[in-house]
Amino acid sequence: MDMLIDSHAHLEMKEFDSDRSNVIERARLAGVDSIVTVGTSLRLSRRALSIAREYENIYAAVGIHPHDVAKADEKTFDELKLLAKDSKVIAYGEIGLDFFRNISPREKQTEMFGRQLELALELKLPIIIHDRDAHEETLRMVKASGVQSGVFHCFSGDDVMAKQCIDLGFYISVPGVVTFDKSKVLHEVVRQVPLDFILLETDCPYLAPVPFRGKRNEPSFIVHTAKKVAAIKGVDWEEVALMASRNTRKLFGIAEAATTHDKAS
Ligand code: NI
Repeated sequence: MDMLIDSHAHLEMKEFDSDRSNVIERARLAGVDSIVTVGTSLRLSRRALSIAREYENIYAAVGIHPHDVAKADEKTFDELKLLAKDSKVIAYGEIGLDFFRNISPREKQTEMFGRQLELALELKLPIIIHDRDAHEETLRMVKASGVQSGVFHCFSGDDVMAKQCIDLGFYISVPGVVTFDKSKVLHEVVRQVPLDFILLETDCPYLAPVPFRGKRNEPSFIVHTAKKVAAIKGVDWEEVALMASRNTRKLFGIAEAATTHDKAS
C-alpha cells in the first residue's frame, strides 16, 4: 500500500552518507511512495537535487535556511535560480526565521527571508517555511510578499495561528513531535485543522517519532506520525496518509507515483 509521502526530509545530510540507499529502500518498503528532500544551504541544495535526480520518487527543494543566511549573497541566489530550473525542484526552501537559536543575526535573517520570498515568487515555486519563535514576523512577511502557496514546516504555532496560515492558503506540516505526550499545543492544532490542510513530515535526521525518539530519524518512520494524527482525529491512519499525500501532491505539483507493479509491466 503505497500512500505515504514524507513532505520534508534531509536525505542530503551527512547523517545518511553511510547508508542512504538502504534508508531510501526501507522507506519504499514501509509504503512511502515519495520523499521531498529539502536543501538548507547552497551546497546541500545541490546535493538534494542530485539525490532527486537519482531516484524517480524523490523530489528536491532548494533554498537557504535561516541558520545559514549570513554567508549568502546575490551570487548564491543566482546559483539557486539555476538549480531551481530542474524539473525535480518542486519548492523553494527551507526559508524563514529562527528567533529561538539566533544562529544568524535577526536583521540578516529578516533581510534574507525577504529576498528569498521575492525569489520564490519570481520562480513561481511554493515555499517551505521554517518558523521558530518568530510567528508574527513570519506571517507578516509572508503576507507582504504576495507568495500564495506553501507550507509551514514542523508547525510550532497554536490553533489560532494555524487558522491564520490556512486563511493565507498555506498548509500545516506535522512532524514526529506530535507523538510526544508533552506536545499538547500541537495535539490541539491537529484536532482543529481539517485534514485538507495537513501534510506529514519527518524532518529527518532530526525529531524521530516515538518509539524511535532520540535515534536518527528516517522517512520510513513517518507511519508513526500518521497513526498519531489519526488517533487524535479519531479516523483510520490510512485516511490520514491518503489525505496528506494528496495535499502534498497538490501543493508541490507531484504526479501520482508509478507503482512498482506499473514499472514491472
Ligand atoms: Ni528541515
